[in-house]
Amino acid sequence: MTAVLLFSAKSYDRACFDAANRTERHAITYLDTRLDTTTVEFARGVPVVCAFVNDDLSRPVVEALAAGGTSCIALRCAGYNNVDLDAARAAGVTVVRVPSYSPNAVAEHTLALILALNRNVHRAYNRVRDGNFSLEGLVGFDLAGRTAGVVGTGQIGAIVARLLWHFRCNVIAADPQRDPHLTDLGVEYVTVDELLARSDVVSLNCPLTEETHHLIDEGAIARMRRGAMLVNTGRGPLIDTSAAIVGLKSGQLGSLALDVYEEEAPLFFEDRSQEILDDDVFARLLTFPNVLITAHQAFLTDEALAAIARTTLENIDAVIAGTGCANAVDG
Ligand code: NAI
Repeated sequence: MTAVLLFSAKSYDRACFDAANRTERHAITYLDTRLDTTTVEFARGVPVVCAFVNDDLSRPVVEALAAGGTSCIALRCAGYNNVDLDAARAAGVTVVRVPSYSPNAVAEHTLALILALNRNVHRAYNRVRDGNFSLEGLVGFDLAGRTAGVVGTGQIGAIVARLLWHFRCNVIAADPQRDPHLTDLGVEYVTVDELLARSDVVSLNCPLTEETHHLIDEGAIARMRRGAMLVNTGRGPLIDTSAAIVGLKSGQLGSLALDVYEEEAPLFFEDRSQEILDDDVFARLLTFPNVLITAHQAFLTDEALAAIARTTLENIDAVIAGTGCANAVDG
């Protein structure tokens, strides 16, 4: 039986991991708290730590884990930008992830954001509940015939591109690796700059890397079509949020949908409704009627959660058995 300490545990994590662990081959302890330098001590003596997107796996945390006897960091997510891989390698800690669980979940949420923001569903919902049946300010546009640009056509972006194609958009894409199935559909690959210049809707579905950090900055927003919609379900730092705010104020950026935010770690996944919001940039975002934010929930479907739990436990088995894990992150 392998001892696993699962940080940032929510009710849905417990439910899906308990279901995947029905045979009880893993002794899973759930901790509500986020993993960081102040909580890493809880992992002392535990061979496997299971972490999520906003757990802190910077060098000091990784080194403390290794010093405490942890040999495996099992990420229950696809992205691994929160892990110092050099530190893990140097400390002999294996990092595994779940590269694919349900790309449909994230792609469908991307479309949900595009449709809701375009047709002002978020505002209409509140108006109608308040007895306000005015349509003033709720005008959207037909997606059919519009140009939609997808940055990153991997597992998720390829589905986003297909869904937009089914909405009869003219779909263009930017990715160093072309997907031949998309080109067969008629999706045109262009540079990021050309994509920004031509798109009415831009969806970010690439990973966060040094190259893509602040991919959408002041210059990129200036190069976008005036009034275009920007959607980010990738990772928060793909967008320079302050630049986006300037763009929204001037009207250069027509609307913004976010499932991820560059400073989300201290905010997301908790009920903070009784607290004073400390993040002035985020607070400013909330004032725009043409900004729609969800708190990193694009992955949150039954299918995705079940697949995440199943693959995470299989990854742990492979690492502990020393048979090599196909989902190890090499860095
Ligand atoms: P993937 O690895 O299948 O695809 C990523 C694609 O981005 C690849 O085709 C790659 O060539 C491309 N790419 C890399 N650098 C690029 C650049 N500079 N410009 C354009 N394209 C570039 O990854 P997948 O599964 O599609 O996931 C994409 C990202 O979505 C993940 O890295 C993660 O950050 C994010 N994600 C968000 C979730 C959420 O709940 N909001 C859940 C799961 C993933």
